[in-house]
Amino acid sequence: MCGIVGYIGGGNVYDVLIKGLHRLEYRGYDSAGIALVTPSGTLNVYKAMGKVSNLENFCKDKNLDALAGIAHTRWATHGEPSDCNAHPHYSEDGNLALVHNGTIENYKLLKDALTQHGCRFHSETDTEVLVQLIEYIKVKNNCSLLDAVRESLKQVVGAYAIAVVEKDHPNRIIAARKSSPLVIGIGEDEMFLASDATPFVEYTKECVYLKDEEVAIIERGEPLKLVTLENKEAKIDVTTLELSISQLEKGGYPHFMLKEIFEQTSTLKDCIRGRVVNGGKRIIISGVDDNKEKFLSAKRIVIVACGTSWHAALLGKYLIQDMCRIPVEVEYASEFRYSNPVLDDRDIVMAISQSGETADTLAAIKIAKSMGAFVYGISNVVGSSIPRETDSGTYIHVGPEIGVASTKAFTGQVMVLTMVAAAIAQLKGTMTQEEIAEIGKAIHKIPSLVGKVLGLNSKIERLSLIYTYARNFLYLGRGYSYPVALEGALKLKEISYIHAEGYPAAEMKHGPIASLIYTYARNFLYLGRGYSYPVALEGALKLKEISYIHAEGYPAAEMKHGPIALIDAEMPSVIIAPNDHLYEKIVNNVQQVKARGGSIIAIVTEGDTTIRNIADHVLEVPEVPEALSPIITSIPLQLLSYYIAINKGKNVDMPRNLAKSVTVE
Ligand code: G6P
Repeated sequence: MCGIVGYIGGGNVYDVLIKGLHRLEYRGYDSAGIALVTPSGTLNVYKAMGKVSNLENFCKDKNLDALAGIAHTRWATHGEPSDCNAHPHYSEDGNLALVHNGTIENYKLLKDALTQHGCRFHSETDTEVLVQLIEYIKVKNNCSLLDAVRESLKQVVGAYAIAVVEKDHPNRIIAARKSSPLVIGIGEDEMFLASDATPFVEYTKECVYLKDEEVAIIERGEPLKLVTLENKEAKIDVTTLELSISQLEKGGYPHFMLKEIFEQTSTLKDCIRGRVVNGGKRIIISGVDDNKEKFLSAKRIVIVACGTSWHAALLGKYLIQDMCRIPVEVEYASEFRYSNPVLDDRDIVMAISQSGETADTLAAIKIAKSMGAFVYGISNVVGSSIPRETDSGTYIHVGPEIGVASTKAFTGQVMVLTMVAAAIAQLKGTMTQEEIAEIGKAIHKIPSLVGKVLGLNSKIERLSLIYTYARNFLYLGRGYSYPVALEGALKLKEISYIHAEGYPAAEMKHGPIASLIYTYARNFLYLGRGYSYPVALEGALKLKEISYIHAEGYPAAEMKHGPIALIDAEMPSVIIAPNDHLYEKIVNNVQQVKARGGSIIAIVTEGDTTIRNIADHVLEVPEVPEALSPIITSIPLQLLSYYIAINKGKNVDMPRNLAKSVTVE
C-alpha cells in the first residue's frame, strides 16, 4: 500500500528517490509521484499513473535538479487512480508539497471548512485537504511550517504518515506519523525517510522508527530532531538494521514469489534456530518464558489477524487447543475491532502480522490493550508497529517477503505458532516430556523435508498447465498434417501462454476430450479437515490472489451442505488429505466429489494407495506429525497457484489491486 520516500543529502536526489520508489513497489500501488525542491527555490511536482517507470519516462525532459525531495507510490482510497489524484499534492499557493499514507477520516468536514475560506481543490483525495489545511494555518497564524504541521495534525482524525517540503526551505523535510509507518535513515551527511527501510538499506543501516504523533525535522547539516504534536522534544532511539540488500533482490529467480517459496528450507531453519534445543527436548520461546504467569492463568486466547495471517491464526487455534488445552477464538481483526469484544486481564490476545503494520490488526491490539488483555505479537518485520505496540511476542525471522502473496511468512508463522504452543504446553504440563521431545525432533526435520517437497516443483509446473486455462486449443491433423498440428500447438503455448494440445485427429476420442474438461476451470474448490482445513483456505486464497481464478476453501465435510451442488467435470477440487486422524473421513469426501464427476488433485502422504486410486492427480508429501502437516501440505499449493498464474501470464509478485502492507482500514 502507499509508499513514501524522502531524501536530503549530497547524492542525486532524483535518483535516490526513484530507486527508493522501485524498492517500495512490492507494497502495491497504482500511481507514483515526486516533489523536488530546487536550489533556486522552485518546487517541482511530477506525477504519473501506473508504474514508477511511467513516472521516470514523464520526468525525462524535466528539471530534476534538487536539494531535497519526497516521493510516493499511491494505492487509491479517495478518488480513482489518476495523474491528478497521485501524490505529492501542492498547497493552493504552490509553496508546499505533501505525500501521505493513511486515511483522514474527517477530511470532508475539513474540506468544507476550507472551501468556505476560499480554498479550491484539484483532486478527490483526502491528502490534498491536509496540505491545504497546513498552508491555511501557516498563513493565518503566520507561523513556521513545523508549527502549522503540528496544529493541523491535531485537527486530523484518522491515520497518517506524511512528508512535507517547502519551496522557501529547500534543505528541510518535515514528517510525521500516526498509525501508519515511517522510518528515518541516518547516513553520513544525508538523511532518508521511508515507509519501511528497504529504500535506504543500501546507504545506511542506522535508523529511527517514528512513534505515533511524533514530528520529525530533517534538515541538511543538522542532527535529526523529533517533537511531539505539543512541541515537546521526543527521544531519538537509533536502531541498527539487520536487513541486507541481497535479501531485496531476486537472486536468479524469475519472481520474488518463487524465490520465497524455495527459500523456505532456510527460512524455517532461521525461524527454529535457538528455539528448539537439547535435541528437541526443550522449546525456548522467550516471549512465553518471560510471561509465565500470563500463560498459566490464561482462560482464553483470542487470535486476531488478516489475510494469510488469519489462516495461520486458524492453525494456531488447533495447535494451542490440542497442545495446551486453552480455548482459542480466531477473529478477523477488521471484524474484531468493531464487535464490541468481551475481554479482560485473563485473556491473551495474539496478533499475527507479517508486515507488523496492518491497520486493522493494529487497531485490534489497541482495543485489546485498553481492555486489560495481555497482547502477544507474531510478526516478521523487526521494528514495525505491531511488535512495538504489543506486550511481548515472537519474530518469525524469515527475512523480507517481497511477493505480495505470502508464502514463507505463512510457514514461518505456523512454525512459530507450533513452537509457542509447545512452549506453553511445556509450561502448563499439558504435554509430557516425551511428547515435547517428539514434536521438537520433528520440528528439526521440517526444513529438510520442505526441501523434499520442493522436489515436486516440475511435476506441479506440468500439472498446472492442465488446470490453468479458461480457454484452450486443440490442434488436430492426420498424416503429414499431424506434426504441423503439434508445432502449431507448441507455438501458441510458447508465446501466448494459452494451453494448446496437438493430437492425431483420430486419437482425440481416447484422451484429449477428457483432459479438455479440466482446462475450462473457472472455479476451484479446496477441501480439507482438521489441520488441513486452514490449509485449504490458504490454498484457495493463493490461487485467487495471483491467478484471479475464483477459488473457495471449505471444510471437506461441510461441502455437502452447499458447495457440492457446484461440482461437475469443470470444477476441480484440490483436496488436502495427509495421513492424519481424519484420513478415513476425508476419503469419504473424496469419493463424494468423484461420484459427482469432479476432478481431483489430492495432496497425500507418501505411500498413500486409497486416494491415489480415486484422484486424478496426487502430490505426495513426506509423513510428519499431524500438527506439523500444514507446513508441508501448504507448499505444493503455493507452487500450484504460482504456476497457474505464470501460465496465465499474470504478475505474481504484484497482483492487481493487492497491497503487501495494508496500512488503511
Ligand atoms: C495483505 C497481503 C497478504 C497478507 C495480509 C495481512 O492483504 O497481500 O499477503 O496476508 O495483507 O498482512 P499482514 O502483514 O498483517 O500479515
